[in-house]
Amino acid sequence: MILSQDVHKVFGGVVPEIASRAHLTSIVPVVSRALEDAAVTFDDLDAIAVTSAPGLIGALLVGVCYAKSLAFARGIPVIGVHHMEGHLFATALQHRSAVPPFTGLLVSGGHTLLLDVEEWGRYRLLGATRDDAAGEAFDKVAKLLGLPYPGGRPIEMMAREGDPAKFRYSRPMVRSNDSPADPSYYEFSFSGLKTAVLTSVRSSADLERDSADIARGFQDALVESLVEKTARAAVAWGRKRIVLGGGVACNSALVAAMTERAARFGATVFAPEPRLATDNAAMIARAGLFHIERGERSGLDLNAHASQPIPGLVTA
Ligand code: KG4
Ligand code: ZN
Repeated sequence: MILSQDVHKVFGGVVPEIASRAHLTSIVPVVSRALEDAAVTFDDLDAIAVTSAPGLIGALLVGVCYAKSLAFARGIPVIGVHHMEGHLFATALQHRSAVPPFTGLLVSGGHTLLLDVEEWGRYRLLGATRDDAAGEAFDKVAKLLGLPYPGGRPIEMMAREGDPAKFRYSRPMVRSNDSPADPSYYEFSFSGLKTAVLTSVRSSADLERDSADIARGFQDALVESLVEKTARAAVAWGRKRIVLGGGVACNSALVAAMTERAARFGATVFAPEPRLATDNAAMIARAGLFHIERGERSGLDLNAHASQPIPGLVTA
């Protein structure tokens, strides 16, 4: 049961206070509907997993507070889950083989993380974005082209009609002489690409004519940057599986390009279907189950955090 918050479309983005209030008024009916759809009752629940970080603090607090109250009332454990660890588990709900060891690329509206995953709960962070997240870049470029929020899908649809040769943007953070010793070898940056798109938009004599070509040029550049860095990581760590997660993993141009590139070194790409790629509670339940099975529990003092690193990070 996913409640889509159409209210954000009206404002062209998420307004924190409105999102928090929407959580407050929706959480009880949403949980009731989810139980109904699954044909279970509160008596059937063994534990409760709740997103406790990272994200909009007001919305997180509503969920955490509700989950703790419910757990206390039912006498069952509660476990706080990191939103991005949820995204990492989402693909395994659909593909049984999307399990460690693998190279993970998480691309959402707020994060862009490249991880080497040796085993669940052990995450080596290889790279992240220096500025905008991949989904954020889609949303901002969509706005420049007058497309609705969230902009990922509208850009993808528009790019299908575009000519890849008309607007060719340089591939962010990718140079032919990059070396693994460079700190930027696995890093991303999308704000320069967004500025390049802005320049094209401003200098276009006929934006209606050029929009599809610009969308195509933008998507090609962003996708190639994601594919190149992920392939570098998979080859360096000798991984034969690549797991994509987060809303941008819905993008079929990304999945196609990643699959084609991975085939060159014998790796398989696993991408979640859209309802598992974008935010959903099943992925949080799955990650929560992993922690519960390891004997972990959150206390009734569980707090929410606007930003927090993914748990289980390992260095070098
Ligand atoms: O993971 P998600 O549902 O929420 C966050 O945790 O942020 O990701 C939402 C992001 C938005 O920026 C949205 O534009 C992007 O995923 N997105 C896409 C596509 N569908 C959603 N980006 C590119 N292509 C798509 N088809
Ligand atoms: Zn998300």
